[in-house]
Amino acid sequence: MPVMMAGTHLVLFIGCTIALLASSTASASIVEHSLHVQNLTVWRLCRPQVITAVNGSLPGPTIKAREGDTLVIHVFNRSPYNLTIHWHGIFQRLTSWADGPNYITQCPILPGSMYTYRFTITGQEGTFWWHAHVSWLRATVYGALIIRPSRGHTYPFPKPYKEVPLLLGEWWNANVVDVEDVSQLLGINPNNSDAYTINGKPGVLYPCSRKRQTYKLKVVPGKTYLLRIINAALNNQLFFKIAGHALKVVAVDATYTNPYVTDIIVLAPGQTADVLLTADQSTGAYYMAGHPYFNAENASPFANTTTTGILIYEGASSANPKMPLLPAFNDTPTAHKFSSSLTSLVGAPHWVPVPSKVDERMFITIGLGLSPCGGNATCLGPNGLRFSASMNNVSFQWATSMSLLEAFYYNIKGIYTADFPDVPPLVFDYTNRGLSQSPLGFALKGTRVKKLKYNATVEIVLQNTAFVGVENHPMHLHGFNFHVLAQGFGNFDPINDPKKFNLVNPVFRNTIGVPVGGWAVLRFQADNPGVWLFHCHLDVHLPWGLATVFVVENGPTLSSILPPPPADLPKC
Ligand code: C2O
Repeated sequence: MPVMMAGTHLVLFIGCTIALLASSTASASIVEHSLHVQNLTVWRLCRPQVITAVNGSLPGPTIKAREGDTLVIHVFNRSPYNLTIHWHGIFQRLTSWADGPNYITQCPILPGSMYTYRFTITGQEGTFWWHAHVSWLRATVYGALIIRPSRGHTYPFPKPYKEVPLLLGEWWNANVVDVEDVSQLLGINPNNSDAYTINGKPGVLYPCSRKRQTYKLKVVPGKTYLLRIINAALNNQLFFKIAGHALKVVAVDATYTNPYVTDIIVLAPGQTADVLLTADQSTGAYYMAGHPYFNAENASPFANTTTTGILIYEGASSANPKMPLLPAFNDTPTAHKFSSSLTSLVGAPHWVPVPSKVDERMFITIGLGLSPCGGNATCLGPNGLRFSASMNNVSFQWATSMSLLEAFYYNIKGIYTADFPDVPPLVFDYTNRGLSQSPLGFALKGTRVKKLKYNATVEIVLQNTAFVGVENHPMHLHGFNFHVLAQGFGNFDPINDPKKFNLVNPVFRNTIGVPVGGWAVLRFQADNPGVWLFHCHLDVHLPWGLATVFVVENGPTLSSILPPPPADLPKC
């Protein structure tokens, strides 16, 4: 029997069983894990903090499987909060029920209850991650999800000596659910985090963060390591650099890229990068460091701090590591150069050509606005209003009585309307900084979705607006990867910009940082029936309504019809 090693490194999970999946190819396995979610007191920055954690650790356990395997993950919610878990980047073919966003594909797992997520990994491999998809719990409820090539298959690059997940995170000296609740109540920006972290540890540049709160990576001179870097921070894009070392990017968002050598990478929340690092410098210690890329205009202050870890060569002392010089926080040219230099590796495993025929064209404005405070509440946002956010002037309203997927599957009316507009209500000068008084800054709330025929090819121009602040929004699509045909600054030019589309080897990913005050063009094929959230991966903007939903209809064959929900799907 082929032995599946996934998960055996986890000390804390209970009930890992490994079995052959009889009905699938000989080498596919069932990878089973239990995630126990409960309160945990951890010390960070010299103080104790109660957090919601998985299997007693921060980050939670790394889950490993191979392409073709079926994951069976039992989630036990022993926390005081409603919970769901999302498997970021996983297609969930015919398993929309396991995707996880709260009230989109399921009702929450109530405290004291459990739900088993079952899904098969088909047609994708690389660095993914899992995280809570309800309120702000993903600040501490997250971990890496690593899909290796199926047995007998290899990477399209030399086999690395070791693989190392690096999860970049964000830490609050507070209960994050309270932080979000206060900002919702008052209609304002939430408090900034107190630290960024690498694998849960802030590093030495924070006051009172001792040595053991610094992540250390020991390397053997001359060896090459595959760093699987994940930006799991809530609200900040991050630059990342390792002193003295080149980084060779070979994949982003779990799709292979042409090797791209750089000394700096930038990742938006939700994005991942696979990077080869060779320990080819003089034996010693080197800092790895991350700090925000932040270039929003008219925005409130951000957490302007730096997380560090240490790369130590075998036999060297960890004293006096060299520090890398990070770009300025607002260095948009460096961020843009990185993001726009990536191209997909034609012919690599799971490579997909750009579909040439487009069935649905959408032009979607995205950005922040303001909305009336509501009721007799008191808001502390600009002019006594509250912050809101919208796509095509619709501020997404979360359902509360059942998930949109159940409404779709059982054909229940009144939960959503299938009238999300293909274009904004007006053509205007989207990125004009003088727009703040425009009535379009006030978006109406609605649970409005876009229906797609099975297999339709969709092209979307995402256009930033400048009503209230101008910033880079990392837009994440559930259930699919999309090709990024082009991106740029200012208003999208429908005559000249299409001439620049890369239809040959565009990067293929699940999260795109739409350039600040700019646009990006995406194309994807809706080949998976179900309900798929499309949203800004800054957790500050999600409850404000920077989201919409694609409802993909069933196809003509048995293999294109969404099966019924699992019996244990949480009830509302
Ligand atoms: Cu990583 Cu909708 O999420």
